[in-house]
Amino acid sequence: MEDDAPVTVPRPPRADDAAADRDAPRSLNGTARSVGALASRFFGERQWKRPRYAWHRLWGELNLIPRDMAGVWDHAAGDADYAAHMVNGSPDEATLRRTGAIMARRLVAALDIRPEHAVLELGPGIGRVARELAPHVRCWYGADVSRGMLDRAAARMRGQNNAVFVPISGDGTLPFAAGTFDRAFAHLVFFHMDKQEMWRYLAEFARVLKPGGVAYADTWNLENADGWRRWLAEVAHYEGRKRPVHQNRWSTAAELRAYSTHAGLTVLACLADSCWLQLIVARPFADGTLPALGDLSALPPPPGAWYYAD
Ligand SMILES: C[S@@+](CC[C@H](N)C(=O)[O-])C[C@H]1O[C@@H](n2cnc3c(N)ncnc32)[C@H](O)[C@@H]1O
Repeated sequence: MEDDAPVTVPRPPRADDAAADRDAPRSLNGTARSVGALASRFFGERQWKRPRYAWHRLWGELNLIPRDMAGVWDHAAGDADYAAHMVNGSPDEATLRRTGAIMARRLVAALDIRPEHAVLELGPGIGRVARELAPHVRCWYGADVSRGMLDRAAARMRGQNNAVFVPISGDGTLPFAAGTFDRAFAHLVFFHMDKQEMWRYLAEFARVLKPGGVAYADTWNLENADGWRRWLAEVAHYEGRKRPVHQNRWSTAAELRAYSTHAGLTVLACLADSCWLQLIVARPFADGTLPALGDLSALPPPPGAWYYAD
């Protein structure tokens, strides 16, 4: 060390340190990022009973090996419990089914999804929503960047003969002909991706929807108090650490409206009163008219909840 190198002198602890620590931003799942916190989570969640899960989760947290988007999700798919944790924090199969059914009901109502419809889901993961939705539509296509997640979805949806699992590159393009689908949706997917891919997928929704088709997508809402709080938590979460490719990202309603409009979609609604932005767009019919809006009342998450009332 050179003689004139700055020396950092730790300041003595103050009485209000404990309160400051209590109020310090936590990661999105509420866990402080420290060896102690990781250890207490290990014991608190009885992770020693699930060593494979513990290993996958720790390795995912440490993020030591740079991975591309497919690599992150294929890693998550390496353990059933970790895959469930990564899609929406579900601790078990029963929760996956419960939250999947809630979201499937919300989408059916909001998008007026009918039994004769061909439905595209972008980023279905392990088929949490799809397992509950597919039995109620003519056909369901799930396009995901991760083959591992799709394999788990196929296993969870075994016997669902109208379901098709399509691995895609993740670059924002979709391998489907124009005008294929009546409905399309991406739930808990857009916030993981780069803005350019988000824009490209919206443009692809405009292409693969039939005239009169409707699409839904959600992402974190920067302009809501709870959304902003979660943004600060995300910043704190990665302070001094390498950010992984699937880090959370935030948007504004104006941004989603701009992408949609430039893609040739009409914004039917952009719900923005929660920490989520929930976008519902339509490809107009040939004569310029629009499909009727479904029942949006159940779509926003309950106040204060992450997405579902837990
Ligand atoms: C948080 S999970 C959500 C899964 C599912 N939608 C659900 O709600 O249970 C995100 C999913 O999006 C997929 N994904 C992430 N980026 C993607 C991209 N650029 N293209 C396609 N799928 C992507 C991941 O592989 C993963 O399966």
